[in-house]
Amino acid sequence: MKYLKGMIALVIVVIIAIAAWIWTGSYNVGADSPHWAFTRYVIGQLREHSIESRSADITVPNLDDPALVAEGAHHYAEMCTGCHLAPGMGDSELREGLYPRPPNLTHFAPDPAEAFWIIKHGIKMTAMPAWGKTHDDQKIWAMVAYLQKQPHMSVERYRELAGLPAMAPVMTHEATSPATTDSAVPAMSAPMTVTPAAPSSAAAPAKAASTH
Ligand code: HEC
Repeated sequence: MKYLKGMIALVIVVIIAIAAWIWTGSYNVGADSPHWAFTRYVIGQLREHSIESRSADITVPNLDDPALVAEGAHHYAEMCTGCHLAPGMGDSELREGLYPRPPNLTHFAPDPAEAFWIIKHGIKMTAMPAWGKTHDDQKIWAMVAYLQKQPHMSVERYRELAGLPAMAPVMTHEATSPATTDSAVPAMSAPMTVTPAAPSSAAAPAKAASTH
C-alpha cells in the first residue's frame, strides 16, 4: 500500500514537471531544430509499425499498365514534385525547409502497398497530405504505378508522360546562386527571373516544372 502511494505521488510529480516544462516554452517547435536521436528513433518505429500493419491487407493491382503509369505521371507532376522532386529537377526550396524532409522519390521506388496507404491517408505531423480526401483509389494506384518506374525514367520520358513541354528548361530556382550556365541547368533563352504572381506564357512551363 505504501509502495502504491509512493508510485502515485511520483506519477503526479512527473506530470506536473512535464506540464511546467511545456508552459515555460523551453521546447523549440521550429522546423529547423532537429529532434533528439531518441525522439527520431521512437517516431521512426511508430511510423514504420503503424504503416506496416495498416497496409498488410492491401491487394496490389497490376502496376505495369502503361496507361496507368501515364495517368500517374500527370497527377504526380501536378501535386507532388515540389516535395518529392522528379527526373531532371534540382532540389526545391519547399523541400529544403521541411522537417522531416520529404524523400526524393527519384532515388527509390517505394513499396506499392505502403505507398498506396501513405498517399491515401497522409502522415500526421509531417507535411505529407492525405490525398484520399480528394482522389479516388484508382488515381492513387496510378501514382503508385508511376512511382515504380520513376527511378529509372529519363527526363524526356517523364516530361512526355506528364504532358510537359519537351524542350522547357528545367529550373531549380536557386535563391542563393544567381543564373549560371553550369551543365545541370540548360541555358535559358528568357532571363531567369521568377514571376510568381503572373507568369508569362514563356515562363509558364518552367514554373510548372518547379512548383507543382
Ligand atoms: C508538402 C510536401 C509534400 C507533398 C506535396 C507530398 N508529400 Fe509525400 N511526403 C512528404 C513527407 C514530409 C513525407 C515523409 C514523411 C515521414 O518522414 O514520415 C512524405 C512521404 C511520402 C511517401 C513515402 C515514401 C517512403 O519513404 O516510402 C510517398 C510514397 C509519398 N510521400 C508520395 C507522395 C505523392 C504521390 C504525392 C503527391 C500526390 C506527395 N507525396 C505529396 C511530403 C509531401
